[in-house]
Amino acid sequence: MAFSTLWMLPPVLFLLLKPIQGVDDPKISKAYTPSHKSASCLFHRELENGTSSIPAMVDALEVMQSQFWDSSTSTWPDGIDWTRATFNTHVLTALSVMATYEDFTYSSEIKKYFSEAAAFYTGENATSLITQKYDDQQWVILEWLEGIKFINLYSGMDATFEGQKYSPDFAHRARVFWDLASQGYNTTLCGGGMLWTDQLAPYKNAITNQLFVASSIGMYLYFPGDSNPNPSPVADSTYNSSQALPPIKAHDPRYLEAAMEEYNWLSTSNMTNAQGLYVDGFHITNWTSPTSIGTGKCDARDESVYTYNQGVLLSGIRGLWDATGNESYLTDGYGLMKSVINATGWQSMSNGSWAGLGSDGILQDLCDVDGSCSQDAQNFKGIFFHHLTLFCQPLAMDESQQKSQNDSVIFNASPTQAQDHQIRCEGYEPWILHNAQYAYATRNVTGVYGGWWYANDTIPTGWTSSPAGAADVMNKGIPQNLIWRLPGNPSVPDAGTTPVVNGSTADLNDRGRGRTVETQNGGLALMTCLVNAQEG
Ligand SMILES: *[C@@H]1O[C@H](CO)[C@@H](O)[C@H](O)[C@H]1NC(C)=O
Ligand SMILES: *[C@@H]1O[C@H](CO)[C@@H](O)[C@H](O)[C@H]1NC(C)=O
Ligand SMILES: *[C@@H]1O[C@H](CO)[C@@H](O)[C@H](O)[C@H]1NC(C)=O
Ligand SMILES: *[C@@H]1O[C@H](CO)[C@@H](O)[C@H](O)[C@H]1NC(C)=O
Ligand SMILES: *[C@@H]1O[C@H](CO)[C@@H](O)[C@H](O)[C@H]1NC(C)=O
Ligand SMILES: *[C@@H]1O[C@H](CO)[C@@H](O)[C@H](O)[C@H]1NC(C)=O
Ligand SMILES: *[C@@H]1O[C@H](CO)[C@@H](O)[C@H](O)[C@H]1NC(C)=O
Ligand SMILES: *[C@@H]1O[C@H](CO)[C@@H](O)[C@H](O)[C@H]1NC(C)=O
Ligand SMILES: *[C@@H]1O[C@H](CO)[C@@H](O)[C@H](O)[C@H]1NC(C)=O
Ligand SMILES: *[C@@H]1O[C@H](CO)[C@@H](O)[C@H](O)[C@H]1NC(C)=O
Ligand SMILES: *[C@@H]1O[C@H](CO)[C@@H](O)[C@H](O)[C@H]1NC(C)=O
Ligand SMILES: *[C@@H]1O[C@H](CO)[C@@H](O)[C@H](O)[C@H]1NC(C)=O
Repeated sequence: MAFSTLWMLPPVLFLLLKPIQGVDDPKISKAYTPSHKSASCLFHRELENGTSSIPAMVDALEVMQSQFWDSSTSTWPDGIDWTRATFNTHVLTALSVMATYEDFTYSSEIKKYFSEAAAFYTGENATSLITQKYDDQQWVILEWLEGIKFINLYSGMDATFEGQKYSPDFAHRARVFWDLASQGYNTTLCGGGMLWTDQLAPYKNAITNQLFVASSIGMYLYFPGDSNPNPSPVADSTYNSSQALPPIKAHDPRYLEAAMEEYNWLSTSNMTNAQGLYVDGFHITNWTSPTSIGTGKCDARDESVYTYNQGVLLSGIRGLWDATGNESYLTDGYGLMKSVINATGWQSMSNGSWAGLGSDGILQDLCDVDGSCSQDAQNFKGIFFHHLTLFCQPLAMDESQQKSQNDSVIFNASPTQAQDHQIRCEGYEPWILHNAQYAYATRNVTGVYGGWWYANDTIPTGWTSSPAGAADVMNKGIPQNLIWRLPGNPSVPDAGTTPVVNGSTADLNDRGRGRTVETQNGGLALMTCLVNAQEG
């Protein structure tokens, strides 16, 4: 309890303790002359309530779409397939938050950006994604379920909204990708869990397994059913009628069973380190081939720690609570959040030490510090905050809160349970605000967020780019050895990996890959999380 009491100190106290560099910097304010509306009122605001944070969130969305979206190809050209799926997910969540708290003010923006999100159904390269890794495929499931959630929400608010016509296609794509991804689950090795891919030596990693909790429970709760028999995720493509898919109803219990089995496996797999953080994953000692599986156990652990590996599970276990009303799921989520916030150095603010997942209370991946992030890793922190947003949605309490979900299977919390959850989530708010204020200060003069929210000339004490036992494949590529590779070393695409660029640039956020659509996506997800925390 002492812990949460400390978190509930009023945000203003943290402002006094630690002035926020940049937000009040007249150079940044004066130079910032974007073309989109509402931006001129952003100067000197400190994001401490919705009056300032909602415009900041909308601004992040406007910058995302005006500078990175291409309407002629209906995509974000600078993204890669999996990062684009998360962009669309985060755009759709921002639209849900705008609709929930400022529907009247932003109704034209909501419709405009929804039409872009829906256009990405054709802009998304589904035929490429079906060939990719089991984690890549699952971002697509979460993306289209988020679209369905938005459509259900907004249809209940605006009778003229014609979003429902898209739901069957969104649902079909989610269903086809779940069928594909679920082939990665197998009990032969480690007694359960998902493989990252079958194109490498077996690696059961945090992200793929956390996604399987989140995507499976999402399918159970929000998938509206699908009667499109086409086995392709591209709705109108031709197909062989003897391969037709059977129809499937909403709330199929096999999705719930898959989510529960996966979580039971993951939560007992020893995948968390001494700080309570998920490490990257497990190899199997002495595995050499499917017929020579070595120990057959998940016993060779890669100690890499990434921000996104602490995030995706939060929405998964929130969904498990929604489906079952079992409080142990939420309790696990609070425990993970406590570990994450501690590992950003929140308890020892201003001492400048690397605390496992950041310093001075600011969430960071190791690669942020020296600007060595790959395109993949630049997208990680936004994912963390997106899933925290979902975790901290108010608990459903009665049917009146679910009018858009007539056939809802969502468990209704007691008033006490709902209040307890809200108090927990309010406890995170000062930390979210602190991160948001630093991130806000990293915008360049055209409003694009940087990826290193700490952006401090002094490297945190104790920081190292290469911790013991951590291969850091997400930034450094997949090693050419038999721990990682299959015999014969068939080629595997190393999407996104880019070298460190040691440019002598004055702006720390221009090093390496610099500001990108991925770093903007991070800013958008963080601002959306802040608004949800303040208004929820
Ligand atoms: C919200 O913040 C604005 C600007 O920082 C301030 O003027 C206003 O009084 C605040 N409102 C509340 C309800 O705290
Ligand atoms: C989709 O991906 C495939 C395989 O990577 C590629 O050949 C094709 O050009 C992509 N299509 C578009 C429209 O980008
Ligand atoms: C699990 O994987 C093993 C080895 O790849 C394979 O032989 C087995 O058939 C798979 N089992 C299931 C149920 O898919
Ligand atoms: C259609 O699928 C069936 C069953 O998989 C297969 O036997 C048949 O050859 C396919 N027909 C064509 C034209 O591909
Ligand atoms: C969990 O993993 C750590 C790191 O590899 C290892 O030291 C420890 O023995 C493992 N614990 C169990 C119960 O297997
Ligand atoms: C909290 O973080 C510190 C590093 O700042 C670490 O030494 C400590 O073990 C963490 N505490 C817990 C309970 O994880
Ligand atoms: C792995 O194989 C090596 C060489 O055969 C053997 O020495 C070692 O004991 C094996 N390790 C385990 C955990 O079985
Ligand atoms: C709640 O979930 C936990 C963790 O999965 C499980 O151990 C426990 O048996 C469940 N409790 C009930 C009442 O189902
Ligand atoms: C910062 O605080 C942490 C956690 O209390 C402590 O372990 C570390 O030694 C401190 N670092 C410095 C430089 O004071
Ligand atoms: C950089 O970090 C140190 C250590 O926490 C802090 O004292 C200093 O104010 C920071 N500098 C800036 C420019 O934020
Ligand atoms: C809601 O569900 C009930 C019972 O299943 C059904 O009779 C009713 O038509 C549904 N209402 C709407 C608006 O779908
Ligand atoms: C801000 O960053 C974006 C993305 O890197 C870049 O395109 C733009 O030119 C930058 N703006 C300025 C004024 O440097």
